Amino acid sequence: MDLYEYQARDIFERHGVPVLRSLVASTPEEARAAYERLGSSVVVVKAQVKIGGRGKAGGVKLARSADEAAERAAEILGMDIKGHTVRKVMIAEGADIAEEYYFSLLLDRSNRQYLAMCSVEGGMDIEQLAEERPEALARIPVDPRKGIDWDAADAIVEAAGFPREDWSRVARVLGSVGRVFIEEDATLVEVNPLVKTKQGDIIALDGKISLDDNARFRHKHHDLLEDKQADDPLEAAARAKDLNYVKLDGSVGIIGNGAGLVMSTLDVVAKAGADLPGSPHPANFLDIGGGASAQVMANGLEIILSDPQVKSVFVNVFGGITSCNEVASGIVAAMQMLGDKAVKPLVVRLDGNAVDVGREILREFAHPLVTVVDTMDAAARKAAELAATSTDSEA
Ligand SMILES: Nc1ncnc2c1ncn2[C@@H]1O[C@H](COP(=O)(O)OP(=O)(O)O)[C@@H](O)[C@H]1O
Ligand SMILES: [Mg+2]
Repeated sequence: MDLYEYQARDIFERHGVPVLRSLVASTPEEARAAYERLGSSVVVVKAQVKIGGRGKAGGVKLARSADEAAERAAEILGMDIKGHTVRKVMIAEGADIAEEYYFSLLLDRSNRQYLAMCSVEGGMDIEQLAEERPEALARIPVDPRKGIDWDAADAIVEAAGFPREDWSRVARVLGSVGRVFIEEDATLVEVNPLVKTKQGDIIALDGKISLDDNARFRHKHHDLLEDKQADDPLEAAARAKDLNYVKLDGSVGIIGNGAGLVMSTLDVVAKAGADLPGSPHPANFLDIGGGASAQVMANGLEIILSDPQVKSVFVNVFGGITSCNEVASGIVAAMQMLGDKAVKPLVVRLDGNAVDVGREILREFAHPLVTVVDTMDAAARKAAELAATSTDSEA
């Protein structure tokens, strides 16, 4: 789960990362009241959306009076920033910025450690910096058993090239960011910019935190951070049914068992659709896991079929502990449960344990919308073609 800046800011504050005073507003009137409560002559009105580059998109603006704060909020609320609608703004004290730095800490799965990235050239687009001047972005591995202790913090500030007189102040802040990462079970904590003010304070001016959903059970209070309103309605419905579903923007619905198989199914479908009209591609990721019952299959199909963008569905299952005959019976039961709600063509590829029985069950079922295809490539092709022709007929 990704957090909003204002949520990240509050978590920073709890762990001792220096932040500015700020309030959240959903209306211009609340923004005006926030200006007055903060009592700072200059404030910054900041769009709260879970996407970077708000500044460039016009979602971060200064205000020097209560009226201005309300006006800027009126401009920013309702704005669309890269497909994200602004429903809240943060009113933060204005900082007197002397320098902008970049710092992030992330989970480096392939190396089984954390990776700290730091630059004294922050504020700007960090992807661009990493590409154009990789030497300006220090990358320091961090031992997960130690986190950002003094040794690690020293190594980071030195490699990033901070002036020596700032080392200890910056290192202390990095240590606190490291505690946020570990104690909240984050997979990413990014501070861009981390600033030095003209008064010499080191402050986190913007924060991004991604929490590890697999650790949710350890943090009951993280439930409160969930934004039900902004969530994709299909993702929310899937979560309510304990399905591992991610909405994508294509037209071929995907169901598979096992994350690896589903990931490769996405690739195969994208490739199969690439040269077809409208280049149909995956509409979602959905892993129904091992041991999926007919009910789980029905739940998954129901979510996918209720996505108006979906034109065809590809069910790609490798029978293991749950054999193909159970999966096939699950599909039959699911189609029966869904009844009239099942209106889109389904391409099913089964392989593995008891594949012959499974295919036979579907052949006997002989549902007009269900096509059984033996190989993954051919099935992907078929599903993409069905989505392409369906798009054609609508056009
Ligand atoms: N409280 C603040 N006071 C002064 N300037 C700010 C403040 N917050 C942000 N800024 C300026 O706006 C820029 C963009 O804001 P930021 O919060 O990083 O949003 P984003 O990364 O989405 O563009 C920052 O690099 C900084 O220069
Ligand atoms: Mg930023």
